[in-house]
Amino acid sequence: MEYRILGRTGLRVSVMGLGGGGHSRLGMAKGKTESESVNILKEGIDAGINFIDTAELYGTESIVGKGIQGIDRDKVIISSKKMVREGMTSSEVQEGLEKSLKNLGTDYLDIYHLHGVTPEGYDYCVSEIYPEFQRMKEKGMIRFIGITERFEKDYNHRMLQKGVDDGIWDVMMVGFNMLNQSARNLIFKKSVEKNIGILNMFAVRRAFSNPERLSQIILELVEKEQVNHEDIDEKHPLNFLIHENGALSLTDAAYRFCRYEPGVHVVLSGTSNPDHLRVNIESLSRPPLPEEDVAKIKEIFKKVDSVSGS
Ligand SMILES: NC(=O)c1ccc[n+]([C@@H]2O[C@H](COP(=O)([O-])OP(=O)(O)OC[C@H]3O[C@@H](n4cnc5c(N)ncnc54)[C@H](OP(=O)(O)O)[C@@H]3O)[C@@H](O)[C@H]2O)c1
Repeated sequence: MEYRILGRTGLRVSVMGLGGGGHSRLGMAKGKTESESVNILKEGIDAGINFIDTAELYGTESIVGKGIQGIDRDKVIISSKKMVREGMTSSEVQEGLEKSLKNLGTDYLDIYHLHGVTPEGYDYCVSEIYPEFQRMKEKGMIRFIGITERFEKDYNHRMLQKGVDDGIWDVMMVGFNMLNQSARNLIFKKSVEKNIGILNMFAVRRAFSNPERLSQIILELVEKEQVNHEDIDEKHPLNFLIHENGALSLTDAAYRFCRYEPGVHVVLSGTSNPDHLRVNIESLSRPPLPEEDVAKIKEIFKKVDSVSGS
């Protein structure tokens, strides 16, 4: 496992982060038992993953709490999140964090994010909620403050474009994948300059774990004229990536593509399936995809900013 420094936080993090949300929620969304979910987490940690992402909303904080029991607290980096809304009181914000800490069985979070902030809600979050987070940071309950976008609707990062200019966020969680690479110019150019820690979500999602969904999304992109139909084999759109010196599968390609994107520190991966966990750890340990394949992916999807890959 490769480790990197997460921007200005200085935290040493594994390039693969284990996600407690998404469509799998460590198995809780797919009918797995609590102990099966805890085992996914433990197996990931045993393989060298030290970055774990969860949220109050996911209902997986207690799974993470059980998975890290018995491990020195400073050996894992825990990131969690709070959905905020206009009119929220300081005590609600503080109680939310206290509940997360209790679920996780810890007395501090390494990163606490404002969760899924919309472009319209951003200014309120900065003026009213961010100061509350700062107060909790001063009390030692959190080490760094982050923000995550609502990529399923905010495809071209309208909220994070404001955030990256403000310079107040230590960490940002950004949607980026082979289909929608708009974060490269809109976010990563500036986040690199400002040394903001970047967590990459949506690397695989449905698009690269379900070939039918991929074809459907690409068809939509052709209809919207964001992808040229001559560039694409409609039945097996990205199968050119799979060859002897290239990717082993589309999922493998998707994770490797994100891992080597300049500006990305951690690629989040979510699963309910221990076999997927193992192959994803291998994918995120492999070298970059061949340059000509990466160039082709950049060219085919260069205009896309209207899908998330879900
Ligand atoms: N706004 C936000 O704050 C926000 C939003 C979304 C996500 N997140 C965070 O980002 C994390 C990652 O989420 P993501 O959805 O972006 O993760 P992802 O890794 O892009 O996609 C995960 C999905 O792909 C499937 N998958 C994974 N590996 C596979 C493999 N080898 N073969 C086939 N299918 C595979 C999983 O299903 P199986 O269970 O079948 O493996 C899962 O449903 C979340 O857990 C969460 O922590 C944050």
